[in-house]
Amino acid sequence: MAASSMRSLSSDNSKYLQAFHLFLERSTEHQCMQDFIEKQFPDIISGIGHGKTSLNVLGIGSGAGEIDLQLLSHIQRKYPGVRVNYDVVEPSSEQISSYKERVAKKSDLDHVNFTWHNKTSAEFECEWNDRKEQKKYDFIHMIQMLYYVKDVSATVKFFQKCMAPNGKLLIIIVSGSSGWDTLWKKHSHHLAVCDMNLLVTSWDMKQILDAQGAKYEHLNLPSFMDISECFIQGNRNGELLMDFLTEVCDFCKTASPEMVAAILEDLKLPGCSQKRDGKILFNNNLAAIVVDP
Ligand SMILES: C[S@@+](CC[C@H](N)C(=O)[O-])C[C@H]1O[C@@H](n2cnc3c(N)ncnc32)[C@H](O)[C@@H]1O
Repeated sequence: MAASSMRSLSSDNSKYLQAFHLFLERSTEHQCMQDFIEKQFPDIISGIGHGKTSLNVLGIGSGAGEIDLQLLSHIQRKYPGVRVNYDVVEPSSEQISSYKERVAKKSDLDHVNFTWHNKTSAEFECEWNDRKEQKKYDFIHMIQMLYYVKDVSATVKFFQKCMAPNGKLLIIIVSGSSGWDTLWKKHSHHLAVCDMNLLVTSWDMKQILDAQGAKYEHLNLPSFMDISECFIQGNRNGELLMDFLTEVCDFCKTASPEMVAAILEDLKLPGCSQKRDGKILFNNNLAAIVVDP
């Protein structure tokens, strides 16, 4: 069981955002997604808009929209002049404000109509069902957000139902071969301070989709995070990265010294990381899973 003084990082949105931004700085997370978007995404969307004059796109847990806008620019490139109706589901109002600021700075979004839904995916689903909504989406993405839903299988199933006949659902999630899998499989019983699915990886996703008989494609996206600062005692960035790794707010201060030591020890092992150029690089490999309707 988790120590009673430990609190989930997600329960403190401002601390979560600090940790998330540092994670983005110290990792190749967005770089590896950019490579995927440049090289593989154009093929993925090649059939979604055939003969259409408008496209419906849905982003779930879009954060501040960095990745969304990159996806969007490829959609616009592939379907020039086509109107895009872009629904964004994001529960953090700070993230939605940053997203809107980012959109305001872009000049090439004349054909795009954004609707921001300041809610969780479960709230969006409830509202959808209440309204008996019939809208279908040509492209839906769930990028690094499935950890935060209560029922992964039901969530994915719901959004599959919202896809247009030629639509695609893109899920990006940590790989089953990543350090996250090793760390969380071993320590989740100490760290689970909320009812989220922090353990969910691409392997679980494949099992869920296989059980549903879904058709999908699986691609590996290699990535790492420099966690060297975690091993400098009292280092502020190191402590914030530990919060992100454990999903516990102020982990180094609220967990027992034994638990902190055990996790630091495991973080150094080959199942979690490798040493390169004097740095300790955590295995942050991701997977992109592209689901058909
Ligand atoms: C790790 S961030 C990923 C952001 C963005 N997709 C990216 O890859 O940069 C996870 C996002 O999911 C959002 N989120 C958390 N719980 C959620 C839920 N239940 N439904 C939808 N989004 C959620 C968070 O607010 C956050 O913006």
